[in-house]
Amino acid sequence: MPHAFNSQEIEDLLAKNNGQYLVFENDQPKFVVLDPVRYPHFVNFDKNRPNVLVTGGAGYIGSHVVLELLAANLNPIIIDNLSNCAVPNLGCPFIVGDLEKTEVLDKVFEQYNIQAVVHLAGSIIVEESVLLPEKYFHNNVVAGINLLNTMLRHGVNKLIYSSSAAVYGSPRYVPIDENHATEPLNPYGETKLIFEKIVNWYVKAHDLNAVMFRYFNAAGADPHGRAGEKHFIETHLIPRVFQVANKELDSVKIFGHDYPTADGTAIRDYVHVADIAKAHALAIAKLEEDTGSFTYNIGTGKGYSVQEIVDKVVEVTERMVPIEQHERRAGDPPILVADSKKAQKELGLELKHSDLDTIIRTAWNWHKQAFAKPAVPVEEKAEETAST
Ligand SMILES: NC(=O)c1ccc[n+]([C@@H]2O[C@H](COP(=O)([O-])OP(=O)(O)OC[C@H]3O[C@@H](n4cnc5c(N)ncnc54)[C@H](O)[C@@H]3O)[C@@H](O)[C@H]2O)c1
Repeated sequence: MPHAFNSQEIEDLLAKNNGQYLVFENDQPKFVVLDPVRYPHFVNFDKNRPNVLVTGGAGYIGSHVVLELLAANLNPIIIDNLSNCAVPNLGCPFIVGDLEKTEVLDKVFEQYNIQAVVHLAGSIIVEESVLLPEKYFHNNVVAGINLLNTMLRHGVNKLIYSSSAAVYGSPRYVPIDENHATEPLNPYGETKLIFEKIVNWYVKAHDLNAVMFRYFNAAGADPHGRAGEKHFIETHLIPRVFQVANKELDSVKIFGHDYPTADGTAIRDYVHVADIAKAHALAIAKLEEDTGSFTYNIGTGKGYSVQEIVDKVVEVTERMVPIEQHERRAGDPPILVADSKKAQKELGLELKHSDLDTIIRTAWNWHKQAFAKPAVPVEEKAEETAST
């Protein structure tokens, strides 16, 4: 039976949850609303500021984008189906909803005068996409089209889309610039590329303008400790190395010790999530001035090997990190490094936090408090990947 809350219970809930009001249906949380009109004291919401819908805003990169938009005097409004994250507590309106539900999207666009959309929501695990391509094509493409069509219906014409370096496939040269061939090696990368193409066709046909970011490896955490990486199934290298340092896992698997790199392990380009978040605020500003579609790599141009990451984690955490050596995985290139001069030049993006020391220190500060009490060892459901 759904629980009907009386007004005192709602007030208590709101007070306990920083103004978040959960509506339950069949005992499942259905809608969480920070209502800025009724509860202005709880919420960073100023009706004179532009509203920006952030899909997937409760997730890892999304939560940092939300913090950056607040700092840029915008009103972020999160929609997330909580499939890969917990209820956020970032002090902005939050709607539990799925992008495939047109009626929920319509309600959100009706309630809030949305000026731009940052679209981060999606399924993100490369290995899973190989096993369940239908899930990825549905969530990353079909649900995305539903979002685009809703934007058009409501006259919202600015989109920032989270694409991925996975659109490139095996590098023909490094650093990889935006003109590099796009030949994804897995369904995940294919869905990101297909959705980019769909957006480009919508931009040509309709009143829509877009910035599409191809992130390399997002890493690090909010320098003030307000957000960080906490996926239900963790596949990214740095948090998995922390899981070992924190004794949540016994050892970290390293795939490939015979790559043509200095220490034989694969090299990836790690870019701090706060710098990625900043790029989104800059992109919204760009779409105030320019029309059309723009694609940018977000990376540092400098790579670190898996072994260098492990060594840095050992240095920062002062803990042991046992490693297991494994064969190379099919489709894992030796080096993936971005040329992101275009974003630096056209958006004025500066990478202020993306040195390895800051990445690992901010991420560890977050991880220590977010995983303070690992109750049970994390089941080995997925293996670390070098890149999404
Ligand atoms: N993390 C990286 O290194 C990286 C690299 C390249 C690209 N990206 C892209 O950036 C975006 C964000 O990545 P992330 O690492 O923050 O992942 P994440 O899983 O933490 O965030 C995605 C969020 O979207 C939500 N979501 C998924 N499907 C949804 C749906 N249908 N409706 C509403 N919400 C939905 C999830 O609950 C989650 O909170 C993704 O689109 C991903 O493909 C990430």
